[in-house]
Amino acid sequence: MTATLIDGKTHAAAVRQRVAGAVKHLQNTQHFTPGLAVVLVGDDPASQVYVRNKARQCEEAGMASFEHRLPATTAQPALLALIQQLNADPLVHGILVQLPLPAHLLEAAVLQAVDPNKDVDGFHPINVGRLSIGGASGQPLLAPCTPVGCELLIRAVCPDMAGLHALVIGRSNIVGKPMAQLLLANSCTVTIAHSRTRDLPALARSADILVAAVGRPGFVRGNWIKPGAVVIDVGINRVPAPTADEPNKTRLVGDVAFDEALAVAGFITPVPGGVGPMTIACLLRNTVIAACGARGIPTPGGL
Ligand code: GUN
Repeated sequence: MTATLIDGKTHAAAVRQRVAGAVKHLQNTQHFTPGLAVVLVGDDPASQVYVRNKARQCEEAGMASFEHRLPATTAQPALLALIQQLNADPLVHGILVQLPLPAHLLEAAVLQAVDPNKDVDGFHPINVGRLSIGGASGQPLLAPCTPVGCELLIRAVCPDMAGLHALVIGRSNIVGKPMAQLLLANSCTVTIAHSRTRDLPALARSADILVAAVGRPGFVRGNWIKPGAVVIDVGINRVPAPTADEPNKTRLVGDVAFDEALAVAGFITPVPGGVGPMTIACLLRNTVIAACGARGIPTPGGL
């Protein structure tokens, strides 16, 4: 068997197109434009690239984009004051504070300062709780963007997940735990595995859906995968790939030994070009969800 590739670029473009349609609809019927504010403290080069991409994609979707770049030496009270200002700004429906923050800033306090209804990262404890209780929260759900992107990719190839065994490898607050909640909300039987899990290969072999988010290149081997399974690779690992001409060359690989898995899985996301492109698309989607919530109107169907 050769697995079918799940093309994240195509799916992300479709999400962005739906977001752009929703933005037009809100402009025409509600006479406002959803806006996303991104706060970047310091000059981490990878974060600068992310923030540039976020701003560009925001504008391409017809949304308002507000960028706040603060020096690496910014003190905690100044950052909190900016977040308060954004919380109070009616043109800002989503707020994202780019991580990682410089070491002197207290990440938990900063993330908790963001209004939960504008927390498009879904990192605020209120949103972690809302995700846990699902629709019973009575509020629009703002779940972390990477696992939401994974959920959309899984749903595209496996529309009815009910009763399937889903294994999430990794228990981070950003990916593993919210991913497990989203799969549970889809009525999967969910297992979370981590570095202390015993006999992970045997556990993996019983998984119909396997999500790998461990940050270790090629960690999940082909003989761990159940034939026909849906494999979602969240890993983005840079590894040496020297050539005669370029001894320092590197390449990106996922957490799954891709060539091995390709021969066994039913569907698999490549790295790059799988989960990665979905994250920003889902950030824009969350901003529309937050904007509709702020106005007390339903999120446009099919988003
Ligand atoms: N840094 C890398 N990815 C992310 C993300 O999804 N959200 C935030 N806030 N920072 C990040």
